[in-house]
Amino acid sequence: MEIILQNVTKRFDKVIAVNDFTTTIEGGKLSALLGPSGCGKSTLLYVLSGITPLTSGKIFFDNVDVSDLEPEKRGIGLVFQNYALYPHLTVKQNISFPLQIQKVAKEEIEQRVSEMAKLVHISELMDRKPSQLSGGQQQRVAIARAMVKRPRLLLLDEPLSNLDARLRLEMREEIRRIQLETKVTTIFVTHDQEEAMSISDQIILMKSGIMQQIAPPQSMYEDPKNVFVADFLGNPQINKVYGKIIHEQFVLRDSDTTCDHEKFKGIANESNVILSLRPESIDLATNNDMIAFNAKIVDIYQMGKERLVYLAFDEHLLRAYIDIDHQLNIDDIIPITLKDRGVFVFDESTEERLR
Ligand SMILES: Nc1ncnc2c1ncn2[C@@H]1O[C@H](COP(=O)(O)OP(=O)(O)O)[C@@H](O)[C@H]1O
Ligand SMILES: [Mg+2]
Repeated sequence: MEIILQNVTKRFDKVIAVNDFTTTIEGGKLSALLGPSGCGKSTLLYVLSGITPLTSGKIFFDNVDVSDLEPEKRGIGLVFQNYALYPHLTVKQNISFPLQIQKVAKEEIEQRVSEMAKLVHISELMDRKPSQLSGGQQQRVAIARAMVKRPRLLLLDEPLSNLDARLRLEMREEIRRIQLETKVTTIFVTHDQEEAMSISDQIILMKSGIMQQIAPPQSMYEDPKNVFVADFLGNPQINKVYGKIIHEQFVLRDSDTTCDHEKFKGIANESNVILSLRPESIDLATNNDMIAFNAKIVDIYQMGKERLVYLAFDEHLLRAYIDIDHQLNIDDIIPITLKDRGVFVFDESTEERLR
């Protein structure tokens, strides 16, 4: 089911939790709603579900305006961070509950509940109470209970944040598998960029209630619209240095240290810019490589197949992944080349991308 948001706004007194949100969310896909804590992700989810009324704007499900439709009529399955299972009911009763409310026939309930239990791999746990389940198993039950109604839209609000690291990885793969098997349109809220990058078809990135960019994970990573997007995606974080373009050369602020790269061509003289460099875009210059600058090696961390190197570039410390074939030593001063990928230039005042 395709979702269209048109100028969707939700205001609580002075706070604009969701600010003029306009976008289209593709049907049948898993979309991650990503952003820092307090940016309005949960509010947007509850606005979509109808639990929270809109302040202004419109929401369409498959071209039908649902802005004023009651939550029960929207065909939504909701999964919360804390699972919200009924503690006194068994797993089977928990999953059956929404269908009993809908007065579905007994045989059909049996059949649909066991179908859901199979889907989320909990068939052998049906007679247990929630307290007798691990966090991951409780989350599976919560997903089954949300899916048993055959929703048109599945909404998950930070579903993995109460799980330990290993279970988080396992459950995020599970959510992906369940979504692919059922093809239900799914929106998954998270503040964890790695979680969003690893399982979603597209990321909707927001900041202070405002949508920043919507794109498939890899294209958002490689083609960020603004400084916030470039900073938010990637681990270790992107390197960021401030300076000015002077005659197609980047000059560091408060310094006469320069940096050369093809991307500075054509940028207006005297422009104040932010130069952002992904760690994997920084490499040792060899042979005919264009030398961007010289840097001193401060620290070297060998991490399996990768090597993270800390480089002093004037007053800045840069994180770089340098090809492990090169012999490097701490305190060496080495020529650096910058690749094309992962090098971004932003206008300093608007923070929008120039190159
Ligand atoms: N019921 C509410 N009443 C007043 N302010 C709220 C309410 N719910 C959320 N907010 C505010 O709206 C903003 C967005 O909150 P929320 O949607 O929970 O963010 P997130 O889920 O991204 O952490 C926050 O500033 C929060 O304090
Ligand atoms: Mg939230």
